[in-house]
Amino acid sequence: MPSIVVVGAQWGDEGKGKVIDMLTERADFVVRFQGGNNAGHTVVVGGQEFIMHLIPSGILHRGKFCVIGNGVVVDPLVLLEEIEGLKKRGIDIDSNLGISDQAHLIFPYHKALDKLKEAKVGPGKIGTTGRGIGPCYTDKASRVGIRVADLLDDELFRRKLKMNVEEKNLLFTRVYEAPPVEFDSIYRDYCLYREKISPYVISAPLLLNRALEQNKTILFEGAQGTWLDIDHGTYPYVTSSSATAGGACVGTGVGPTRIDQVVGVVKAYTTRVGEGPFPTEFPPPLMEQIRAKGKEFGATTGRPRRCGWFDAVLVRHAILVNGISEIAVTKLDVLDNSPRVRICTGYRLSGKTLDHPPAAIDRWPEIEAVYEDHPGWLTDTSEVTSFEDLPPQARRYLKRIEELLRVRISIVSVGSKREQAFHV
Ligand code: GDP
Ligand code: IMO
Ligand code: MG
Repeated sequence: MPSIVVVGAQWGDEGKGKVIDMLTERADFVVRFQGGNNAGHTVVVGGQEFIMHLIPSGILHRGKFCVIGNGVVVDPLVLLEEIEGLKKRGIDIDSNLGISDQAHLIFPYHKALDKLKEAKVGPGKIGTTGRGIGPCYTDKASRVGIRVADLLDDELFRRKLKMNVEEKNLLFTRVYEAPPVEFDSIYRDYCLYREKISPYVISAPLLLNRALEQNKTILFEGAQGTWLDIDHGTYPYVTSSSATAGGACVGTGVGPTRIDQVVGVVKAYTTRVGEGPFPTEFPPPLMEQIRAKGKEFGATTGRPRRCGWFDAVLVRHAILVNGISEIAVTKLDVLDNSPRVRICTGYRLSGKTLDHPPAAIDRWPEIEAVYEDHPGWLTDTSEVTSFEDLPPQARRYLKRIEELLRVRISIVSVGSKREQAFHV
């Protein structure tokens, strides 16, 4: 298997964790390249559910080396809890996990700022996960961020932390009228984290490029989704990192010539958590129905996910900006009870039909989705193990999606368990 990037082609939660788990069988390395613990990637194995926030989903397979790349923002407390949680469940971590020395660290002041910013803007808020992701990437871009390598050097760490705490405390007290944070307690906690994290620290570019020289295969695990990408998403209702395929290079130090394939993951419908436009969002009764059947509650925050019909306009654009060569369609089973299924094929805006979305966010609320209707299959698909065994209406629905997107469907998933999916 060549090197593959797996990305979400909608607004996150497409089932990337499950697809990564499937593809890991044939990989040697699995690497997260962006985002942080705003992600929640679910894998269900042997009746047990695992939700990964920072550690790549490949960790559940024995002997696969998992890397947290330089593009990821790491909350060390969350990481250590995740490591301990997995160890308790019998997962081997110590010889299978590497953390980039260039990854930026999330501090308590990032989490506090995330929440204060959201509260201050009120109705115009983004609906973030409150994990400090945006403020941490802000510090990275402002060149004041603290990286894993800085934490390992006590003198440097102390200096950088002091500077940051002083600067943030001005913001807390003068702008947000909030209590300041305390240098001493943060410093003490992070020194403890340093002890526990240091055995895992690696250089991601060196490790991964050496692996490629030895013909090892690498899976790049995207978090969030294309429409949450800082450049290509529904800005400003996005996350603060590059969730598209290009992020895999930037966030690991592996060059684009070493990447062979990009797999886009989509749900058979669409969901979104947080604020922002959503042209195919369901009206209330259908929303409740699909949310209940699809268990559409955030894996990280538990918030109810907004649900809607499959939007081919969104995904077509995602295919373009990621260079997606094939797609995995998940949660087909969630549509099993729908007498009619709809696909959005175009956007009507100011009397014109668009086949790619507008850049200006202010135009989005005016978008009217153009639908094409298909008969539902009204059959349980959760035990189907091949494309040929799907009900004819479900096959036609998927074939139509392929036709509209002009890419091949290579994986179909019909349930949350590892065995409820098949290659096409
Ligand atoms: P990710 O963030 O892209 O990895 O996706 P999440 O884990 O946040 O959300 C996907 C949810 O759908 C999880 O609860 C999965 O267990 C579940 N899931 C994945 N594939 C399927 C499927 O084919 N059918 C059903 N019913 N659930 C699925
Ligand atoms: P996975 O990897 C779905 C959303 C938040 C919010 C916006 C910005 O599980 O698909 P942030 O905390 O990143 O600043 O929030 O992005 N968001 C996600 N939505 N799945 C995710 O991750 C998400 N990570 C962030 O709800 O709208
Ligand atoms: Mg998720």
